[in-house]
Amino acid sequence: DWTMAAFKGEMIQAIKDQVGDGKVICGLSGGVDSSVAAVLIHEAIGDQLTCVYVDTGMMRMGESAQVTALFRDHYDINLIHVDASDEFLGLLAGVSDPERKRKIIGGTFIDIFEREAKKVGGAKFLAQGTLYPDVIESVSFDGGPSVTIKSHHNVGGLPERMDLKLVEPLRELFKDEVRALGRELGLHDDFVGRHPFPGPGLAIRCPGEITKSRLDILREADAVYLDQIRKHGLYDDIWQAFAVLLPVQTVGVMGDSRTYDFVLALRAVTSTDGMTADYYPYSHEFLGETATRIINEVRGVNRVVYDVTSKPPGTIEWE
Ligand code: XMP
Repeated sequence: DWTMAAFKGEMIQAIKDQVGDGKVICGLSGGVDSSVAAVLIHEAIGDQLTCVYVDTGMMRMGESAQVTALFRDHYDINLIHVDASDEFLGLLAGVSDPERKRKIIGGTFIDIFEREAKKVGGAKFLAQGTLYPDVIESVSFDGGPSVTIKSHHNVGGLPERMDLKLVEPLRELFKDEVRALGRELGLHDDFVGRHPFPGPGLAIRCPGEITKSRLDILREADAVYLDQIRKHGLYDDIWQAFAVLLPVQTVGVMGDSRTYDFVLALRAVTSTDGMTADYYPYSHEFLGETATRIINEVRGVNRVVYDVTSKPPGTIEWE
């Protein structure tokens, strides 16, 4: 629509005025906010922008390849892609406390981001996809189980440490406006309509100890679950949907043999801002069909349960 087009033009001018001929670095998470910020800034200043994407190994199926393809190949944006999965997995080995997981991931992310950002010689600005609700909420890395949406992308302390000024073009926008702006910038509907994804990624959907093999099982099951949701046309009615791999094994039967595999919990909620949420009222047919598909298609899972907890008292994520 024309108002968004005009607004886009104003924002591009504001970015040019702020940045001049300086270099900007931007942490890309693959989520909607940082992606829209990056594409907007790229329209304003082109090659003066370099994006840094840190693959923590806690991403969903195919996600890192999609981010690389979209930004480097399609938009031709300077992109540093760091595969840090081994580093993250190593540091998380043996850790099952949710708060420790979050601290390790947040701290390691900042260290790697700083290391990579330094390679972009002479950067003066750090771009972030901060939205209006993030500005008015307090943001912290260690804010208990209900950490605010931006804790991961908020590279806390880094601007001062590296002497960078912040560029936050989305500071006055709400999520739906960011989505509209993304469409105006030519980002695909499927992309701008994506469910939120937490910074610590699959690590907080894998209660207990995180191992590569448990992450792989979770990634596969999550992909089947999301495929079911898309096939049934439910994706856009749901605020967020994901699978959680429980650290519990149960007995089952498959053919004529006994199995002893993990339990997978499915979560889906409706919400307007993530602060409160209701569980999504799937039909029993949908739940039954999805459970059958997951158990048949994913090795390592032999039981599926559905989480019917609202927020409060539950949180959306399990950790
Ligand atoms: P909870 O689980 O607190 O989640 O009800 C509310 C919303 O925030 C997301 N979330 C996070 N996002 N870093 C993020 O970027 C985090 O550490 C984090 N923890 C939760 C969650 O996915 C939901 O949308």
